[in-house]
Amino acid sequence: MRILITGATGTIGLGLADAVRARGDQVVAVSRDPERGQRVLGDGAEVHAWPAPTEELPPPDALRVDAIVHLLGEDVAQRWTDDARRRIRDSRVLSTRSLVSGIAGLPESERPAVLISQSATGYYGPRGSEPIDESAPAGGGFLADVTVAWEREAQAAPPGVRVVYTRTGVVLSPSGGALAKMLPFFRLGVGGPVAGGGQYVPWIHLDDVIGALLHCVGDADADGPVNVTAPTPVTNGELSRVLGHVLSRPAVLPVPGFAIKLLYGDMAEMVTEGARVVPDRLRALGYSFRHPELEPALADVLGG
Ligand SMILES: NC(=O)c1ccc[n+]([C@@H]2O[C@H](COP(=O)([O-])OP(=O)(O)OC[C@H]3O[C@@H](n4cnc5c(N)ncnc54)[C@H](OP(=O)(O)O)[C@@H]3O)[C@@H](O)[C@H]2O)c1
Repeated sequence: MRILITGATGTIGLGLADAVRARGDQVVAVSRDPERGQRVLGDGAEVHAWPAPTEELPPPDALRVDAIVHLLGEDVAQRWTDDARRRIRDSRVLSTRSLVSGIAGLPESERPAVLISQSATGYYGPRGSEPIDESAPAGGGFLADVTVAWEREAQAAPPGVRVVYTRTGVVLSPSGGALAKMLPFFRLGVGGPVAGGGQYVPWIHLDDVIGALLHCVGDADADGPVNVTAPTPVTNGELSRVLGHVLSRPAVLPVPGFAIKLLYGDMAEMVTEGARVVPDRLRALGYSFRHPELEPALADVLGG
């Protein structure tokens, strides 16, 4: 099988590329910097240049594949200046529009069977403690608005292409994302619950993100929204406690919401707000989680 991964040089993409290769399938990738892409993905990967995904169609040769996993996007974990907001939105919405136009431009017989278009639990916006499955409506706020527009572009894929939106939660990986930002505070023993700690964190181990993406590639019943989150979402307070335990550092100091807001501006809402997202669709599809419980998942990620 030939699988195109956009964003293959990122945290999720690199792990997915390894898994695709390990099962004997061909990794095809697009990158704004194909030389760097080839270097990090290795000689076995077929890397194509897509210099400006917001402005131009992807190279047609990269689209002649069996499946596409579309992951690329500007890093969300940065101060949301006006410019950053534009890059976060355009890199997702306009690149998906270009990708879908590129697919539609191919003869029907050459189109991929499936497009897995990455999405995020940010779709649901800030919620209380009620479990949120795929039938819940979109929430409000910047991330929810971006995610709704991002999914809408993928919905425009031509008939015959199965489309899945993987609404992914907070990925546990030591090399990037929220956990990497929190770790220095916990290693010092001063990390603690943030902004009251009552907000839910829809966490997921990187191995299960990759497992879920590949499950959705292969399962013809997978289509539409699929929450990619562990079956046991926890509150931020519980996450702090377990993280402190795994690192043998008690999480002692609660971090007030205003301090996080001072540090990160509006982006702080990514940790001060949350939603108790549950993976109903993945369970119904028969996906079996490798890391369903938080403590062993964190110990695995942190090498404990
Ligand atoms: N990590 C998480 O916790 C998490 C949670 C939910 C959803 N997601 C979503 O999953 C996707 C992948 O996440 P990730 O953590 O693997 O991302 P990442 O490590 O930041 O990598 C994303 C890749 O996208 C490309 N890219 C970055 N900025 C871009 C821009 N402005 N325009 C076009 N391409 C750009 C880069 O590839 P090149 O430089 O090779 O072009 C980069 O390697 C993202 O859409 C993210 O929002 C992630």
